[in-house]
Amino acid sequence: MPDIFRKTIEESERLASLADVDDVIKALSRLLKKLVKSRWVAVYLLDRERRDFAPARCCGLSPHFLPLFQEMPLDPERLPLIKEMLRKKRHLLITDAASSPHISPALRPVLRRLTLLALPMVARNQVVGAVFIARGNVHPPFSTDEIVVISDLVAHAALVMSHIRLFDESLDMSVEMAKRIDVILTLDEINKAISSSLSHEKIIHTAMENIERIVSCEFVAIVGMDADELAVRSVHCTKITLPSEFEAGARLTGPSLARTAFTRGRNEYIPSLTRARRRSPLDRNLQTAGIESLLAVPLVSKETTTGVLLLGDTDPDCFVREDAFVIEKIASQLSVALENARLYEEMQALFIGTVTSLSNAIDAKSSWTKGHSERVMHLAADLAREMGLPDTIVERAKLGGLLHDIGKIGIIEALLEKPEMLDEDEFPPMRLHPEKGIAILAPIEQLKDVLPGILHHHERFDGTGYPNQLQGEDIPLIARIISVVDAYDAMVSPRPYHQGLSPGKAMEELERCSGTQFDPRVVACFRRYLEKKLTPQRVPPTV
Ligand SMILES: [Fe+2]
Repeated sequence: MPDIFRKTIEESERLASLADVDDVIKALSRLLKKLVKSRWVAVYLLDRERRDFAPARCCGLSPHFLPLFQEMPLDPERLPLIKEMLRKKRHLLITDAASSPHISPALRPVLRRLTLLALPMVARNQVVGAVFIARGNVHPPFSTDEIVVISDLVAHAALVMSHIRLFDESLDMSVEMAKRIDVILTLDEINKAISSSLSHEKIIHTAMENIERIVSCEFVAIVGMDADELAVRSVHCTKITLPSEFEAGARLTGPSLARTAFTRGRNEYIPSLTRARRRSPLDRNLQTAGIESLLAVPLVSKETTTGVLLLGDTDPDCFVREDAFVIEKIASQLSVALENARLYEEMQALFIGTVTSLSNAIDAKSSWTKGHSERVMHLAADLAREMGLPDTIVERAKLGGLLHDIGKIGIIEALLEKPEMLDEDEFPPMRLHPEKGIAILAPIEQLKDVLPGILHHHERFDGTGYPNQLQGEDIPLIARIISVVDAYDAMVSPRPYHQGLSPGKAMEELERCSGTQFDPRVVACFRRYLEKKLTPQRVPPTV
């Protein structure tokens, strides 16, 4: 086997083992320089965006021409040699540059007294680069055998390069896909988290926590309208001290990026506050605090801008287009969740307003009980909170307290208005009011969990109450709470048959009946609550 073939096979195998395009080009140019008698070798790679060939590597070129190589991309539109090579997708051999129609006059001095072999690098029928090999014309021009070997080697290198690029591209795509999947999963998590809550605070907290997780930034603020002025509703920032204008609750008066985004209803971005030609005083204060890039995304609900999500970072150019896309998605989820929370709060307020009117109708039947139901409502909710019960139970205690005597709507007013204690025969109809209350409220689905507290608020801890003589912890907790605060309010409020007791005396009475009428644990918590609420002198210490 001729030496050149053996060397070619060996070097081809070596080329195939390389994993970097630069290494392949470097090895190819050195190999061609060494393998065939050549003055210099130059390799160019196709730049698809610019549609020209960018210089990649040369070997053997004199220092005089080196800058020319490094600085001059080869434009097929301006260089007939390249145009012709691309058209044919095969090599061109120029033995006399001075007379060749493929060589432009500007390049003729460079190629003087040289034979030039130009080869396209073709992989999968696509030109990916070009190789130029120059040989001094003191030697015979490239032979057919040489051209075959060189062409094979160049084609082989082009294929290796193409494989490496494909591998790199698929690796980049995999990483990009993994990133996008992560973003989609996180967006889904945020959506679930904020959609499952109807509390403004919880929605905002969850959104801010997740924004920081998905987009790296130094501070996140949610800005909303408060009495016709933009105000910071919530802010999260740990590493830098923000100016006071950006503290939670502060009003953003005057121009700012947040205001511009709010007014225009579109994203506003300052990549660098330092480079920005115009900055508002508010944004300048953020820059002084260390913020460089600032992004404001409007919160839009039902085509109305309701607020702004403001993000900042200490690095310039922090928010790339992908970040803005993700933040926009979060902002849109956040807007819907906040709007739902607002509608829910409105509905709750309407519901509470309606049931308050209902309970007022009961209290109004007797001049002595005016305001009793609302006071019991507040006391029951406070006591449930004092006992460390969850918000859902506090809400039930609150509604149960408000509606506990609703059944008295069916009791004749003469009994309710009676200025002295009830006679023995007047108790039975009065004792029907918990059951009557249940009958009245049963059709209201939202009160389903409140009913046990209303039905059993006259049960006694020792099992002698009504209507079911339940005992101890068989009595629903809400009912045990209402029982204590109902009795307390009845004692401290003046009635026709007694003056109102002082809180201390009423507390003493509750403690006297603790374990018989009332749950001792509830009474103990109520003492703690009263001690916090009232001055210490008004509640005698436990003996
Ligand atoms: Fe009652």
